[in-house]
Amino acid sequence: MQKSELLAEYRKYKDSGKKLDMSRGKPSSEQLDNMTSLLTEISDIDGCFSENGIDCRNYGCLEGIPEAKRLFAAILGVRESNVIVCGNSSLNIMFDTVSGAYTFGLHGCEPWSRQGKIKFLCPVPGYDRHFAITKLFGIEMINIPVLGDGPDMELVRSYAENDPSVKGIWCVPKYSNPTGVTYSDRVVREFAALRPAAEDFIVMWDDAYAVHDLNDTPDQLLPVLPLAEQNGTADHFYLYTSTSKISWSGAGISCVAMSENSKAEFLEIMKVKTIGFDKLAMLRHARLLCRSLGDVMKMHASVIRPKFELCFKYFERLAADIEGFTYSRPNGGYFINVNVPAGKAKLIVKLANDAGLKLTPAGATYPYGVDPADSNIRIAPTFPTLAELEEALVLFDICVRLACAE
Ligand SMILES: Cc1ncc(COP(=O)(O)O)c(C=O)c1O
Repeated sequence: MQKSELLAEYRKYKDSGKKLDMSRGKPSSEQLDNMTSLLTEISDIDGCFSENGIDCRNYGCLEGIPEAKRLFAAILGVRESNVIVCGNSSLNIMFDTVSGAYTFGLHGCEPWSRQGKIKFLCPVPGYDRHFAITKLFGIEMINIPVLGDGPDMELVRSYAENDPSVKGIWCVPKYSNPTGVTYSDRVVREFAALRPAAEDFIVMWDDAYAVHDLNDTPDQLLPVLPLAEQNGTADHFYLYTSTSKISWSGAGISCVAMSENSKAEFLEIMKVKTIGFDKLAMLRHARLLCRSLGDVMKMHASVIRPKFELCFKYFERLAADIEGFTYSRPNGGYFINVNVPAGKAKLIVKLANDAGLKLTPAGATYPYGVDPADSNIRIAPTFPTLAELEEALVLFDICVRLACAE
């Protein structure tokens, strides 16, 4: 298409006043509807008791009920005794971990707030809400490139093992947000063998997409905590996951898993903060998912896969026509990672926004919102219907071609 034709098409979209959204990784209404049986997992008083007889309507049971701990232990590849089950948001627990280290200190060290300038390693492109947490606490963020099988471990080691002011690293080890990369066995082993200079260094292992496979060739992630235990480094590891993209993002359960030492320390703060999270939510989830997690995830995949495939169809054409346009083809997770020619990402996102298509802001996948090459765009195809997604992709295609014709 000539530039003038592209412009005419673009204006047509803009004038139509339509609103489309490919900005956030949310489950679609169809996926939420498919989980309605959660509502009837508890229907009477007898159903309100956990397998060890806890009345889930009442206070108590700070670490969560056994069946929910078992569910998450299996998902994360840890022991039940490592797990604390919390409320609906794992991001909330990540915030609390950083906040606790900042305010009270970790492993007997001075609170981070009293240690002067401290730093955090941020694999990029990465998850904007991780970066928002470390930014809020004034922690300096250092970009670490994500390679084909995880973060650049040589760089991670050189910072973590030599500089005691480096206090941690954000990790999404499976179907990373947004790259879709899963850490290889080598990368996981190298994490487990890391000898940080700071005793209070934390590996924030956010396994949000642990069971979110999309096809028959899923990625496999080596469980990191048992390896870290063998290496004597387990106290550095904090593992997180949730049912946000298994059941209902606004009404699920989440967890953190860690060594016995770290857990005892974590509970000292947690017991002041709460008398316990929503155990009826734990009970509903454990009952449904302990018997059918695999089927539930297959059902989600059957809704999401066609959306990813539709994106691939459009992106394949763009990659063939535009030098420097590349995209990921992940086996799971919620995102497709697009790279456009350098200097064009902001322009493409602006063109899309102006015409009614909301995209994740350019730069959001980098600390401080600064993508040095201005080339990365995160595509979140799960929330719109297939028909809405196709409209969004037609407009995205026009925006990319227009921006690259400038
Ligand atoms: C990597 C990652 N971690 C955490 C979250 C949010 O998790 P939660 O809903 O459990 O707070 C998301 C949501 O998009 C995510 O992509």
